[in-house]
Amino acid sequence: MAQSMEVLEVDSFRVADNSSLTGSPRLDGPTLTGSILYSNPKVTLGVCVLFVLILVKAFRGGRKYPAGVKPLPKHPGLPWAGRFWDVPETGIESAFHFGGLHKAYGPIYEWEVMGTTHAWIETDKVARDLFVKRQKIYCDRNELPAALGVKQDCEILPLSGYSKDFLRHKNFIHTIMRHSQPTAFYGWPMIENKRTLRRLLETPDRWSEHMITHCARTIASIAWGDPEHGTKLLTIVPELLKAVSPAGPLINKLTFLQNLPAAISPWKKAEAIRKQTMQDAFYEALDDVKDQLLAGKSKECWSALWLEKEKGVEATKLDFHEAAFAIGSSSFVAIATIGGPLHAFFLAVCQYPGWLPKLQEEIDRVCGDRLPTVEDMPLLPKLRATVSEVLRWRQSTPLGVPHEALEDDVYDGYLIKKGTILISREESKYPKGNQFIPERWLEPEYPTYKEPLTEFPNLRGHIAFGYGNRSCPGVDLTNMELCTLFGALAWSFDISAPEGATIPWYEVNPYVITMTMPFPVNIKPRNEEKREFIMDCCDDPGYTLKTERESRWDILHEKDGKPWTWDGLAPHYVAPATPKVYPAGA
Ligand code: HEM
Repeated sequence: MAQSMEVLEVDSFRVADNSSLTGSPRLDGPTLTGSILYSNPKVTLGVCVLFVLILVKAFRGGRKYPAGVKPLPKHPGLPWAGRFWDVPETGIESAFHFGGLHKAYGPIYEWEVMGTTHAWIETDKVARDLFVKRQKIYCDRNELPAALGVKQDCEILPLSGYSKDFLRHKNFIHTIMRHSQPTAFYGWPMIENKRTLRRLLETPDRWSEHMITHCARTIASIAWGDPEHGTKLLTIVPELLKAVSPAGPLINKLTFLQNLPAAISPWKKAEAIRKQTMQDAFYEALDDVKDQLLAGKSKECWSALWLEKEKGVEATKLDFHEAAFAIGSSSFVAIATIGGPLHAFFLAVCQYPGWLPKLQEEIDRVCGDRLPTVEDMPLLPKLRATVSEVLRWRQSTPLGVPHEALEDDVYDGYLIKKGTILISREESKYPKGNQFIPERWLEPEYPTYKEPLTEFPNLRGHIAFGYGNRSCPGVDLTNMELCTLFGALAWSFDISAPEGATIPWYEVNPYVITMTMPFPVNIKPRNEEKREFIMDCCDDPGYTLKTERESRWDILHEKDGKPWTWDGLAPHYVAPATPKVYPAGA
């Protein structure tokens, strides 16, 4: 910590020391009712443990602060247990809830729950000051109760703690990205774009499934040279995403349950199964590439780079297990994150029907009778603006990925304690932020405008990808996938909401990576030539889901007669009797 400490007692029930505080926060919200308390022994036990912890904390007193150093403004709550009762379960509702509290507490404040402090950051400036300028301090990840050990294992890079092994893994990922980017990721995204157009033409009602399977097939091809491995990723993503989301298992809320021994902890059992499934998937896929390579049949892909010990990749010295996980865990992150904006594209063009014709005019003028390519991008600013705006308007990771402080730090006179989990959400740079306005990237009156338009907008530095040494290494791949697929969709189809239909506004799944709920959409080829082009552009439309399970990794198209929801990650939208009202900024 940068400043010396002088001892000061501080009340653990303190009210924020912040000039922007407009009133004393209240302790209100639902209480545990007697009936639940007495009828369920597990709840009774949980409440007793909580009560003891609160008493211990209350008797031990508050933290001591040095002269001139203040505690961060704090959203008050019970000692140790903090304030857990009024937090919404879902990722997006939590983002609105905590974002709204900045009005009372200013651009950075803290909130405690079950002994862990979270700091919420409102502005890009504070996020950059901490995560970029002081990245050595703010580069750790937090422990996840339902996925205990993931932080130390260094198997899943986005969730790994900061360590030498983490750095080797991250260097590996940067190297394979750098290697594949100049060949447009070995051409795989363009191949899969054509197949996805064909599936959309043949079975437009299944558009959500086609977007998700598109992401899985594309990244599986880049990683292992074979789109069929995509079903392995589709199997493991829901398990992991639920495990790391507050809306997932109870242990993520009642975090002290992580102390239960493995023999009686259902969460530890579930985690062991998840880990094994993931290992089986990643080992099988890498072994497959190894076999193909030995048979002289391997295709260009990330795994082949590692197996052939390409220069640069070898320097990171990853063994088989490490490489299997480094490749696998860089792949499954490319499905829900890219699937989110793909779903939001359909929402945007349906909610704002005036935009698609403008985009089509630009693409027709530049590309004529062929699909847009990466080389066309400098001449397609409206297309790039659509990508930037969709990613801003419906951020796939509305809570970002938290950073954890490795040591005590003082920022602007405020103490940020070691172990604090920091979460950032920037909305101040975007006037009328709740609206989809691609023009904000194209017209000089908007603060986001940048010249030359042959280069800007682009995704480098876009807030959706985080900050500093933990920022996302998948920006170029995302850019390539979204620009070419949004372009192909706009070139091929007219897309609109059915006449008189109620469609979602911000209805998404409840997990930390969100996706607009699938809703009915009219998807029609723009003319007969386009229809013929799409039918002729590929032999295999690449249907991925099956009607019957034949092998471990098969994914069924329908379950109990209901359409595919990707295990709840893409639940279908049902228009409510009373439309939901979202807070300002949403
Ligand atoms: C729309 C697409 C995507 C979005 C919005 C997104 C967003 C993010 C965010 C917010 C982070 C955390 C940044 C931080 O901690 O400051 C992250 C990390 C990461 N992303 Fe992405 N991502 C996307 C696509 C991808 C793709 C396509 C890949 C790889 C193929 C990828 C691989 C990773 C990895 C490996 C990390 C962990 C980095 C670390 O912890 O150091 N992402 N991403």
